[in-house]
Amino acid sequence: MSGTEYLGVKMTVNRRPVAVDVTGDERLLDTLRTRLRLTGAKEGCGVGECGACTVILNGRAVNSCLVLTAQCDGAEIETVEGLANGDALHPLQDAFIQHGAVQCGFCTPGMLMTAKALLDRKPDPSRDEIREAIAGNLCRCTGYEQIIRAIESVAKGGGRQ
Ligand code: FES
Ligand code: FES
Repeated sequence: MSGTEYLGVKMTVNRRPVAVDVTGDERLLDTLRTRLRLTGAKEGCGVGECGACTVILNGRAVNSCLVLTAQCDGAEIETVEGLANGDALHPLQDAFIQHGAVQCGFCTPGMLMTAKALLDRKPDPSRDEIREAIAGNLCRCTGYEQIIRAIESVAKGGGRQ
């Protein structure tokens, strides 16, 4: 009789080294939320359609509900918890507040991480590029305009990371 097999995974999460033992089918979303208590990434659909679970994996925004933790050995992961610098919010977080881009807030962590990945890659994106980047992040509250304006305001401010 064989027991459950666990795989050792070492990764960097929000600039800190993390080591976990996981089964081969554990999703990154569950590792983050349950083991590491990083509950910013949300589970909406669980099938890659809503973007609520978006985190940055090796510089790219991904749906963490579709990523297996076992695939993340050696990876660098950023979650919404890593955005602020101490008490100072990240410019995107400030902009979301100022532009009314946070209503119920369920989509916000995923939107922020998608926006950060975009601006890290392309500091001054066009409005169409912003729309395209957030196309996989659903928001039931804002109608998207405030979110787009918030991202634009940071991009135009120099598009810092
Ligand atoms: S929960 Fe991952 S895309 Fe919806
Ligand atoms: S603010 Fe409610 S889903 Fe986007």
